[in-house]
Amino acid sequence: MIELACDAVLARLEPLYRDHRNWPAERAAIARLIEQARTERNADLRALDRIRLANPDWFNAASMVGYSLYVDRFAGNLTGLMDRLDWLGHLGVRMLHPLPMTPGQAGDSDGGFAVADYCAVAPALGTIDEVGELTRKLHARGMVLAVDCVLNHCARDHPWAQAALGGDPDKREYFHVIEDRAIVDRREAELIDIFPETAPGNFTWEPELNASVWTSFYPFQWDLNWSNPAVFREMLAVLLFWANLGIDAFRLDSAPFLWKREGTNCRNLPETHQIVAGLRAALDIAAPGTILIAEAIERTADVLGYLEPADGGRACQMAYHNGLMAGIWYALARQDVRPAARLVADSALGRRDIAWLTYLRCHDDIIWSALGPLVEADELARIPAFFAGEGESFARGARFQVQAAALPNTVGTMASLLGGADSAALARYALMMTTLLALPGVPMLYMGDEIALENARADQAFADARWLNRPWMDWNLVDGPQNDRNFAARNRFFEVTRSLLALRAGLPMLDATAPAHVLGDADGLLLLERGEGTQRLLLAANFATMPRDIPDLSGWETMVAITGETRMTTILPAGTAVWYLSHE
Ligand code: GLC
Repeated sequence: MIELACDAVLARLEPLYRDHRNWPAERAAIARLIEQARTERNADLRALDRIRLANPDWFNAASMVGYSLYVDRFAGNLTGLMDRLDWLGHLGVRMLHPLPMTPGQAGDSDGGFAVADYCAVAPALGTIDEVGELTRKLHARGMVLAVDCVLNHCARDHPWAQAALGGDPDKREYFHVIEDRAIVDRREAELIDIFPETAPGNFTWEPELNASVWTSFYPFQWDLNWSNPAVFREMLAVLLFWANLGIDAFRLDSAPFLWKREGTNCRNLPETHQIVAGLRAALDIAAPGTILIAEAIERTADVLGYLEPADGGRACQMAYHNGLMAGIWYALARQDVRPAARLVADSALGRRDIAWLTYLRCHDDIIWSALGPLVEADELARIPAFFAGEGESFARGARFQVQAAALPNTVGTMASLLGGADSAALARYALMMTTLLALPGVPMLYMGDEIALENARADQAFADARWLNRPWMDWNLVDGPQNDRNFAARNRFFEVTRSLLALRAGLPMLDATAPAHVLGDADGLLLLERGEGTQRLLLAANFATMPRDIPDLSGWETMVAITGETRMTTILPAGTAVWYLSHE
């Protein structure tokens, strides 16, 4: 009976697991788990589910803007975070994304992405009850909470890994443990190295096991063996646990890596898509108001599969548009908007219940290879040097994972990549934000960008250079003293952000899935039309170092620019962006 209700889930899993010896037992256990979570879901969350089921595009409103943060670096702990909800609301944020709050590997935990306990909160941050309280506070304000679900790997400190190390044969099968070195070498040759400098290779020799363990990221992050249905069940239980605590959205960390198959680079395999669809199908039964966000830092064509699976079914509702993010930074460096324009055109979505997650900075590096199909290799190779501040550049970032054969990535906070917190950097910030907020998608801001936080000082950084763009929040730059010059400079960034978000929230043509048409991409001038009929907006963003004429403004009646200028101008100064509206 229970299995019947879960047919849609089991049908997804059957092709993956039917040959596994434990499948009959796991299949029944998965069905029971979903049924139990469904019956335990509380009345408030069920009411929210009903509203969202009636509005499957509920997360797409122009007012939906995310903010990604480290709880400790932002406000010390969960109590501190709750004390800042008024401030976040005032800024115009509606979706909070705290980076992993779960207990991590002792010592270096890859910023919490090596999870030692999936269903707990790190004691320094707070308690599970406080997360529940946070969700209720957010919901009361019309805000939502997104958390990470680190599916691909757990910490070496996790009890599953510890049990495997201790000789537990069942837990050993939760991981990819390979005894034969020849197999490791063969697989290694097929795989891409993610952290070639700080964690070379995809396998880690574990003397206690007398074998190698698959570790795509750091050696203390053990890849889970998703070909074992017990792993699916355990991770589904994690999602359901948090969903019933009131979490609205799950960021599926490192989604592309779940399934491994010999002869492939083990990224974005059809089996991985099947797993994601299986998780979605289970949530559709037990917690239908929740959404999944794919963190798949891949080329756009490969990311699309997480939103619009080939079989037309449901998978993720949002996906990070890392290609477009890189495209906008590329436009700034090279005064060339064509790659970004092309990505907008190529990534139009055909459904309203899915959306891109757009962003400019996050806690990770910028990976330029996403632009590989659109930009000549020698042209792209200049970009890391530009953002590292070499030559004529204003930028103050750094290279990440430098190795001879590959294109280095870039690290640095938004302000540092824009040259600091002075007026020139502020003008660049306005250009970038005016552009970001007009793109199709739900924008996600990153902690501290709104007050131009610059790169972390060396004493705050760790060996992994991504810590450069993870500085501690400086509340003196928010709370004052107001007569301080530094405060005043940062406050201008805050005001640009706040005003643009407030404006955006009232413009339905900037809903995440409202139509987008590129009208021009020549000479560094991006012309992007959003919306339809009388509800239209034109973004004109001049990334060139010269003023540009806007060719045809008939049909556009008002203009909004963050500079406060509202007269219709047909000449756009260098490095500025405006929105034109089709009617008042
Ligand atoms: C994601 C996270 C990144 C982490 C990696 C491994 O890409 O954003 O910070 O290092 O996954 O979990």
